[in-house]
Amino acid sequence: CPVVLSGIQPSGRLTLGNYLGAIKNWVPLSDTHDCHYMLVDLHAITVRQDPKVLRDRCFEFISLYLACGLDPVKNVLFVQSHVPAHARLSWVLNCYTQMGELSRMTQFKDKSAKNVDNINAGLFDYPVLMAADILLYDATGVPVGDDQKQHLELTRDVAIRFNNAHGTKEKPIFVVPEPMIPPVGARIMGLQDPTAKMSKSGDAETDAIYLLDPPDTITRKLKRAVTDLGSEVRFDIKEKPGISNLMSILAATTGQSIDAIGAAYNGQGYGKLKGAVAEAVVECLKPVQERYQALRADEAGLMRVLRDGAARAQLKADATLKRVHEALGFIPE
Ligand code: TYM
Repeated sequence: CPVVLSGIQPSGRLTLGNYLGAIKNWVPLSDTHDCHYMLVDLHAITVRQDPKVLRDRCFEFISLYLACGLDPVKNVLFVQSHVPAHARLSWVLNCYTQMGELSRMTQFKDKSAKNVDNINAGLFDYPVLMAADILLYDATGVPVGDDQKQHLELTRDVAIRFNNAHGTKEKPIFVVPEPMIPPVGARIMGLQDPTAKMSKSGDAETDAIYLLDPPDTITRKLKRAVTDLGSEVRFDIKEKPGISNLMSILAATTGQSIDAIGAAYNGQGYGKLKGAVAEAVVECLKPVQERYQALRADEAGLMRVLRDGAARAQLKADATLKRVHEALGFIPE
């Protein structure tokens, strides 16, 4: 059975971008794949986090994973820091990753430009830990949004390099993973600035839709979304970034094609399109919001899910780490 692994950083509230680019696509995979989904808390601390807020957010995230329909029996749901093999493999992979490769990562360049007073080694090393996350589980596929493509490329390069150094063609050490990027929804843009991606940690509250935003907030944010000159409803990211983004959101939430949306709304003005998007987003998040409160209230239940997930993850991760240590010539533990 093919294996998938993915994760989200608890570094802000979950957005519609995280949902459409990632979580929504994770849910159906459990019918055909052996699925592993994490909260990547080790990654989150590359930017300063308030410990109380971080802990609360992790509980919020796992409740939302469940509310979105991820079944904790069919999927391995866990917290990255609960499985020590992630940090351990990350060290090994550090020694197989070049400084030059890491300095070319666009996410590092963006984040270090924003956090000039805390450009820490973890921020630089972030993609290596992500490679360890993926390679530990022999993942064949990694369901992510478009912004993770470059990190996936690096993971593949490091895996191939390690295999060439220590494996054979018949017996590679690592499985080389493929990105699984959805055809629509892989890059949801901000509502106030549709030329930058919608992000958890953005400054403007109205730029993102959060999964727990009440329906009237969602509607208000979408009605106030920045649109473009003219009145045509046409998909053109360069000339019409605002309208194209709304069309993508509608396509990803309803399953309609971009062409069908263009045909249905062109000539009707932007207001009509915005109304339809608001309705679709509210509908799409309704079941998630309805399930959330009860799940979040049962912290003991959430802990059981996470402990069980970590135990299952650890079995697999430890086996891979052992294989790697053996390949390196380390004395067995
Ligand atoms: P993160 O936490 O930034 O985002 C989590 C997932 O959401 C997707 N995403 C988006 N998709 C569409 N439109 C958007 N505006 C948008 N914003 C975010 C991301 O592509 C991602 O799939 N480095 C990762 C976390 C990670 C990981 C991993 C992922 C750590 N280890 C191993 C996969 C496998 C990150 O920061 O994602």
